[in-house]
Amino acid sequence: MARKPEKKETQVETTGHEWDGIEELNTPLPRWWLWTFYATIIWAIGYTIAYPAWPLISGATEGMLGYSSRADVAADIAAVDAENAPLNDTLNGLDLTEMVGHPEVGDYAFNGGKAVFQTFCIQCHGAGGQGNTGYPTLIDNDWLWGGDIENIYLTIAHGVRAEEDFDTRYSEMPAFGDILLDEEIAAAAQYVLSLSGKETDASLVADGQIVFMDNCAACHMDDGTGDQTLGAPNLTDAIWLYGDSLDAVTETIVNARFGVMPAWSAEGRLTEAQIRQVAVYVHQLGGGE
Ligand code: HEC
Ligand code: HEC
Repeated sequence: MARKPEKKETQVETTGHEWDGIEELNTPLPRWWLWTFYATIIWAIGYTIAYPAWPLISGATEGMLGYSSRADVAADIAAVDAENAPLNDTLNGLDLTEMVGHPEVGDYAFNGGKAVFQTFCIQCHGAGGQGNTGYPTLIDNDWLWGGDIENIYLTIAHGVRAEEDFDTRYSEMPAFGDILLDEEIAAAAQYVLSLSGKETDASLVADGQIVFMDNCAACHMDDGTGDQTLGAPNLTDAIWLYGDSLDAVTETIVNARFGVMPAWSAEGRLTEAQIRQVAVYVHQLGGGE
């Protein structure tokens, strides 16, 4: 058996605790460490007096310096707003048709509009404006409500079937499930699909045309090209708001759709300048007329 090593002598005093031959030494903390520690305590007390720190039931102690990060942000925003105010004034003073490509504020409007679009519009219209089922694509030149800058501006400002806006764009396709017989609906659906060369049952198309002329042409026009004053889509192009399957078309005819877009000029949504900016952006996205 190895011999137990001799107990090492040490100058440091012990705490007097000993267990199974092991003693607890009472080594003092290094001076520099201790002073740093005291300094942090003093710093912390000073900090909590000067700055917002201790949580209260609603809020926190305010601090002697009156600092608030929220006020900082508000000041930054106010500074940017003040900087942009002359640009916004110029933009708001223009005729709508002068805005696109305007030498002074054209770029400002486009870039600002892009930021507005990314914040408020992509949830429905997609990140690039490519649209989704029920939410029209904004990058083609196929428009429900018109693609010149004035119409785009009106659609954005007042929305589509937006309850909150008296001037909103409005039209309502009837739900033909209660109006037409099932055979008539099936025939009309085939006729609609035939308009873009897609029918699946050619024998129904002739009957469908009769149903269409009697019930649908008032809004979608005799030739099916639609009516932008009513937001009635063109049914002859291969661009579909709700899909090109027989099921999707039948569903539209039976129940109608009633797509809704909020009115962006409604209280607290977008400013006049922001609506103008995003109108310019949408106009330039692709198919502005
Ligand atoms: C809650 C979803 C939603 C949001 C958010 C939304 N839209 Fe729309 N938007 C729609 C729907 C639905 C329609 C189509 C309504 C219809 O069926 O006529 C539409 C239609 C449009 C049209 C008309 C397109 C055409 O073909 O005539 C424009 C332009 C438009 N939106 C721009 C915007 C802009 C700009 C924003 C952001 C400020 C925005 N939308 C935000 C749902 C939305
Ligand atoms: C009062 C006007 C009106 C009448 C009448 C009408 N529609 Fe519509 N239709 C619309 C509108 C507006 C839309 C846009 C969808 C919505 O309601 O949001 C639409 C959409 C559609 C769509 C969807 C197109 C797409 O791109 O997805 C089809 C299909 C359609 N209608 C077929 C018909 C047929 C078939 C009839 C007759 C049986 C008919 N409509 C009668 C106004 C009308």
